[in-house]
Amino acid sequence: MPLPSLSLLFLFTSLLIPSPISSSPVQDPELVVEDVHRAINASRRNLGYLSCGTGNPIDDCWRCDPNWEKNRQRLADCAIGFGKNAIGGRDGKIYVVTDSSDNDAVNPKPGTLRHAVIQDEPLWIIFARDMTIRLKEELIMNSFKTIDGRGASVHIAGGPCITIQYVTNIIIHGLNIHDCKQGGNAMVRDSPRHYGWRTISDGDGVSIFGGSHVWVDHNSLSNCNDGLVDAIHGSTAITISNNYMTHHDKVMLLGHSDSYTQDKNMQVTIAFNHFGEGLVQRMPRCRHGYFHVVNNDYTHWEMYAIGGSANPTINSQGNRFTAPNDRFSKEVKTH
Ligand SMILES: *[C@@H]1O[C@H](CO)[C@@H](O)[C@H](O)[C@H]1NC(C)=O
Repeated sequence: MPLPSLSLLFLFTSLLIPSPISSSPVQDPELVVEDVHRAINASRRNLGYLSCGTGNPIDDCWRCDPNWEKNRQRLADCAIGFGKNAIGGRDGKIYVVTDSSDNDAVNPKPGTLRHAVIQDEPLWIIFARDMTIRLKEELIMNSFKTIDGRGASVHIAGGPCITIQYVTNIIIHGLNIHDCKQGGNAMVRDSPRHYGWRTISDGDGVSIFGGSHVWVDHNSLSNCNDGLVDAIHGSTAITISNNYMTHHDKVMLLGHSDSYTQDKNMQVTIAFNHFGEGLVQRMPRCRHGYFHVVNNDYTHWEMYAIGGSANPTINSQGNRFTAPNDRFSKEVKTH
């Protein structure tokens, strides 16, 4: 099936026709895996005395630039893996969030995060200062947006959190996302021209539903009502990298049911994450698709680390697993 052009995808999503717009999977996922190794190798080669490199190809790509703050949008070219082509708001204006409130989910005030993420144009969203944003309802994102928390301490906490539904090209970077709660039974705006009724949401940290070209990088996530990052319903072309996850039961669900075979298209890279203190299971829990789990550090789990059903391909490479002391929880994997 030919891939619809990006502009067409954008048109569809901005009209909010809730058709599955997930892009086609790449033909040969092993090529993407090899590309990840090439990027890691290249970063390691540049390690050395007086080099700013760390061996982490994503971080080295932007942190080695002393003027990164003036060149924020370059971050969009630093991803690796299946979500590598997520450009977020790279080609748009900078939008500065100055107001931490979220009092009206239908008519959000200019200057708020919600006002920024619903716009149709591409936007690179940054924050004027440290802030805690307690959302009134799920933050329903429109396509081609980056939320970039670098340079400020930004918490999205205590209310519903981020929803990436039937949209494409999203980057979420540098946020503290925690204590996410269920929302819903309310009207919520998802674009300048449309708002609609939301039923009860799960209370995920980041919920990806029929989304594609998504990169979730360098966030700390903990203690949410459902998953920390869940990707379901035909979502694909996703990278989840450099995140620090703690204090949570069902960490990451990739594919929600064995019978939803459209998730065969799901391709996800999980790289350089630290799965830390107080985690229980699903790091990740996979169905159907292709999952490259590479160079993650697992220091705590109470039940298991990686799980799968419905014929997923899980390519686990270079991970470090430190099993818990409990002798009934030594297994890394579960079926
Ligand atoms: C990366 O480096 C390793 C170790 O030197 C090597 O075995 C592997 O072939 C390299 N992979 C790529 C894709 O360059």
